[in-house]
Amino acid sequence: MKLRTFWLLSILSFGLFIAVTLISARLPSPIPEQAVAGKLVWQRHNCVSCHTLFGNGGYAADDLTHITTKETPSYLINYLVQPPVMRPNKYTHHPALDEVDAENLVHYLEFVQTIPTLGWPPQQENAEKES
Ligand code: HEC
Repeated sequence: MKLRTFWLLSILSFGLFIAVTLISARLPSPIPEQAVAGKLVWQRHNCVSCHTLFGNGGYAADDLTHITTKETPSYLINYLVQPPVMRPNKYTHHPALDEVDAENLVHYLEFVQTIPTLGWPPQQENAEKES
């Protein structure tokens, strides 16, 4: 390879590297801001101690990976802001969130729902239908 060709290719590939770096820095983050805020709510309130996402977490309550396909955002927000008594308890209410946290949390659950999992984790209703 001629020295001139070598320099030309080096400068071109360096230019390409800079261009790709600049373009990717401008792309929107793959996780929406409100979903990130919702993830922090999920962590702060330790929802994972009772619920699972992708099958990981506590088994005291339902898996919430696909909850946004079953329930509307307004139902979920309302559930979290004015939580009912948890079955089989008679007095203990489900942990409550304020309106902003509940909204962000639902954005997080909506984001989680977009991650392709090939149907994982198996859903209770489907398992009942198949057996
Ligand atoms: C102490 C255990 C516990 C914790 C902590 C907990 N949950 Fe729950 N959650 C439950 C139980 C139990 C139910 C089901 C109640 C029932 O069916 O009566 C439930 C139900 C729900 C539902 C309704 C699901 C449906 O199908 O209607 C949502 C949404 C939910 N939880 C979200 C959350 C979020 C978000 C957090 C964190 C802020 C959280 N939970 C923390 C135990 C918990």
